[in-house]
Amino acid sequence: MAKKIETALVHAGRRPTKDYGFVNPKLARGSTVLYPDMETKLAIGKRIFEPVDIYGLCGNETHFALEAAIAEVEGGSHAQVTGSGLSAITVPLLAYLKAGDHLLVPDSVYGPTRTFCDGMLRRYGVETSYYDPSITPTALEALFRPNTRVLFTESPGSHTFEVQDIPTLAEIAHARGAKVFLDNTWGIHHFQPFTKGVDVSIQALTKYPGGHSDIILGAVVVNSEEDWRWLRLGALELGNYASPDDCWLALRGLRTLHVRLKAQEAAGLKVANWLAERPEVARVLHPALPSCPGHEFFLRDFTGSCGLFGIAFQPQFSPEAVMRFIDSLQLFGIGASWGGYESLVLPTTGTIRRSEGTGVFEGPMARFHIGLENVDDLIEDLEQGLAALRAA
Ligand SMILES: Cc1ncc(COP(=O)(O)O)c(C=O)c1O
Repeated sequence: MAKKIETALVHAGRRPTKDYGFVNPKLARGSTVLYPDMETKLAIGKRIFEPVDIYGLCGNETHFALEAAIAEVEGGSHAQVTGSGLSAITVPLLAYLKAGDHLLVPDSVYGPTRTFCDGMLRRYGVETSYYDPSITPTALEALFRPNTRVLFTESPGSHTFEVQDIPTLAEIAHARGAKVFLDNTWGIHHFQPFTKGVDVSIQALTKYPGGHSDIILGAVVVNSEEDWRWLRLGALELGNYASPDDCWLALRGLRTLHVRLKAQEAAGLKVANWLAERPEVARVLHPALPSCPGHEFFLRDFTGSCGLFGIAFQPQFSPEAVMRFIDSLQLFGIGASWGGYESLVLPTTGTIRRSEGTGVFEGPMARFHIGLENVDDLIEDLEQGLAALRAA
């Protein structure tokens, strides 16, 4: 029976409903696994691509339950949990790339991904070119080189929220023998990567799957045996590990992901539409609004949004005035990691770009994450914040 997403979120990674036992998978911890004899040890030790107990580092039943669940939510065949959202980016990049390879990365990429490409990958002889996330397909084609092994995508982009035309970009990459990676953290539950040409999908489970700002965790999902071999071997070679406690909390978070996202999506849209009407705001960068670059791809490819979006203020306001606005807010925490139940705000002016003239909007910028508070309270808070902005 093909399950709809709400049903999958409730059942994925759990024992069948008619089985005897507790509702939730157990929280398992462990390093050493004992074997009855050497023959069994040698036989089981070879089964590294399967969810079996070999050694703690290879995962245990808690990891395997979350991996099965997240693979199902993303529509892939296999998942590997990682110690953080960032390591869900670095582990597959290290697994797939080698010295002499070339990598294409959108200029709107999550900052630490850029730091990793410009730091460790460069030191190891992998060259990265940054492309405008709103690039035309023809212009992107021209950036491919014979040694381009990975086209990295992130849609929408961090801070500036450009939505990318993933199916078209994937077609171009595949025609040139490159793999398509997607940081699908924003699109969790609402963007099915493997029906859109993605080979490797990345999730920072720290965000909405965790949902309570109390875990650090990631997952990489693939949809073929070939990709699973690359990913799994890379993760094992690197000694990747994720805390079982955090995996267990992420599994618990998945069960309520749908209702939390639905509420945060609705509240996010209400605040975004309210901000769009304000004279202090030049543009709202919310993928579900026409003012966001790539909005047409959002309408075509996503089934919904979340509570994370940005704005550009009118150019007459200074970045310092935006700081006063942020400081005056009472219900929005100043903090980076989104997807929890609480509202957050950050200034995002001065986004780093390599492709000139891109990612620059009308005035100074801010990013909001809308939590589960009463949305009218949040709007009232923003209203007094905008008064502080005008007074600054
Ligand atoms: C789009 C995106 N990807 C990945 C990450 C990294 O997640 P983590 O904080 O778990 O390393 C973040 C964190 O902010 C993010 O926003």
